[in-house]
Amino acid sequence: MNVKEFTAEAYPNLALIKYWGKKDEELHIPTKSSLSIAFRIFWTKTVLKIYPGEGKVEKIAINGIPDDLKKIQNFFDKIKKFYPEIKKYNYIIESENNFPSGAGFASSASGYAALAKALGKFLNLSEKETAIIARIGSGSATRSVPSGDIVVWKRGFNSDKELSNLEEVSKRSYGETLVQKFEGISIIATILSNKIKKISSREGMKISVSNDDGIYNAYVKTEEKDFKVLEKAILKRDLETVFDITIKSAMRLHGIILSYPNNGIPVFYLYDQSLELAEKFIELIRKEGVIGAYTFDAGPNPFFILQTKDEEIVISMLRKLNVNYYIYRL
Ligand code: PMV
Repeated sequence: MNVKEFTAEAYPNLALIKYWGKKDEELHIPTKSSLSIAFRIFWTKTVLKIYPGEGKVEKIAINGIPDDLKKIQNFFDKIKKFYPEIKKYNYIIESENNFPSGAGFASSASGYAALAKALGKFLNLSEKETAIIARIGSGSATRSVPSGDIVVWKRGFNSDKELSNLEEVSKRSYGETLVQKFEGISIIATILSNKIKKISSREGMKISVSNDDGIYNAYVKTEEKDFKVLEKAILKRDLETVFDITIKSAMRLHGIILSYPNNGIPVFYLYDQSLELAEKFIELIRKEGVIGAYTFDAGPNPFFILQTKDEEIVISMLRKLNVNYYIYRL
């Protein structure tokens, strides 16, 4: 059998302006733009094996353990529409990642980014085309394709009129580097809880979008404005503004999540301790006269972002509180 192999690797990213919701479920067009900072603390390495066939994924294993074939076949079926070449082969995917299990880190961004990059090598795609495929696997994965420290993912449309041409919007919405090097910054990822979340981000954002009564729409508009301010602040390295918007976007995300219960059942990802730790962090850095931000993804663990020169202040607080953490220095 004539087997060809393509290998790629990718890392996670941490959003400062979050992605939360799709305008189109098939093409994964986001309702709003997002911006992230590279978080190359863990990695995913993927080997894609291809041989003549009919577009079927025969096997997928992560760290040697078989994974959800249906989910990955669904991803291949979606991208077949763009690249019919995919139909002529079958696939075996062997992925390895070094994410600590149960530490609350999602590997979907690096996972789909690594797979998209391997597919991109096979199909001879540009970085932009690769980032588009990654987006269709998992939204945040598109921001793990480019190599820059700061990556933006624009929503690709300005008005609903334009949005009617979804194919066109799809081509304009992908992760792209805003700043290649953003040195001197540390990201501290704390681990308060390792419980698996009850509702995945995919489900959670669907609940917010499908129940929109005007609040979600206002959220999108405000965030789109802040996205533009943040982009400029990053380019000027105006860290005060960067940190201010980062905190606002994190808290708005969780405000939106709380605004839309699922058939009456509250949807939430934060615990009391999550907010208490964020509060302690702010009190501490204010007292010490330094600047920084906290953020949360769809999970309870705060991430702290600050200048590397100031990180020790926060580390000693976490040690005193007996909170486990990982640290990544850009
Ligand atoms: O890409 P997904 O479907 O895993 O969603 C990511 C959602 C957040 O992590 C909460 C926000 C973001 O922009 O990364």
